[in-house]
Amino acid sequence: MTKKILILTGGGDAPGLNAVIRGVCKRARREGVSGTKEEWEVYGSIEAFNGVLSNPQEIVKLTSKRTAGIHVKGGTILKTTNKGNPIQFPVPQPDGTVRFTDRSDELVKKLKELNFDAIINIGGDGSQKISKTLFDKGMPMIGVPKTIDNDLSATDLTFGFQTAVQIATDSFDKLVTTAESHHRTMIMEVMGRDAGWIALHTAIAGGAEICLIPEIPYDINKLVRKIDNRYKKGRGFVNIVVAEGAKPKQGTITASAGEKGSEHVRLGGVAYQLSRQLKEAGCQAEIRETVLGHVQRGGTPIAFDRVLASLFGVKAFELALEKNFGRMVALKNNAITSVSLEDATKEYNTLQQDSYLVQAAKGLGITFGD
Ligand code: F6P
Repeated sequence: MTKKILILTGGGDAPGLNAVIRGVCKRARREGVSGTKEEWEVYGSIEAFNGVLSNPQEIVKLTSKRTAGIHVKGGTILKTTNKGNPIQFPVPQPDGTVRFTDRSDELVKKLKELNFDAIINIGGDGSQKISKTLFDKGMPMIGVPKTIDNDLSATDLTFGFQTAVQIATDSFDKLVTTAESHHRTMIMEVMGRDAGWIALHTAIAGGAEICLIPEIPYDINKLVRKIDNRYKKGRGFVNIVVAEGAKPKQGTITASAGEKGSEHVRLGGVAYQLSRQLKEAGCQAEIRETVLGHVQRGGTPIAFDRVLASLFGVKAFELALEKNFGRMVALKNNAITSVSLEDATKEYNTLQQDSYLVQAAKGLGITFGD
């Protein structure tokens, strides 16, 4: 009998999603080739679980024609949403507000009717919490970790992260030449939510003088001193990388309310706040701000992420084959392995102040403002 697998992508997109989808499909197709093994068909739910919950349902068969060559493409051919959590499903009300309702039992009923032998949920922390809930309700769930923020503790790396760092570094390099020409101080804001991984990797790769991350609140006066020192001998210039979730020692993050029904508050704008704070604290330098934003999530994944995502896809299918459900694939100590969904969602992965990465960055002369 032919077996059926469902794949979906949830939360913010990340370069490499399509490579995971293709990896699952290609590995699944190999099962039927000898004629002695069971055949597998792979399906995709459009916009995470919304494709299953909607009426009519939006579920597509992932044929080889649909998935050929997609590992090179950014985004996700299955589309995604961060307003489709079945456990807290946003329902717009006539008065313009949004009410959240638990649709997980309805989802489980629909999934049972569809009779999939395995469900592969590609997503970040929020998505894997959903995987865990559905697994606890008897669904054959397998998770694949995804986020450019690299903030999942159960895997050494998430795909999409290295591409985001590459994009940020390329942008940083461009800002350095113009900073030097105009002897300006450039502030470049990068993504990462509550984790400073993208910021710190970019700062090291680009050679920043200052890197501000959520894990180390900054003292504005220390930053002013560092900048002033760089200008002391004449035409100085400074390049700063600031993570969107960075905050001053006495202050809060720069956030605005998320869209109605969205899972998160919206971060962004700390570059402008920092620029203001520097001026108010007496910084004499001419400052310009750049907010990179979603550019970091777009476009083609770099080779590293294509490889990692492809391996994750193959491993996810192999877990399905072994009926090893309730697990999330992971990269640990340079090996592709898996962890329980319970462990996968326990801890958030932020930068430790005493980590070698932070200490080495200090050794390179990078100031955190602590
Ligand atoms: O989690 C990935 C991420 O890109 C964060 O770095 C960022 O804060 C957030 O998503 C942006 O979300 P949205 O696409 O909803 O604006």
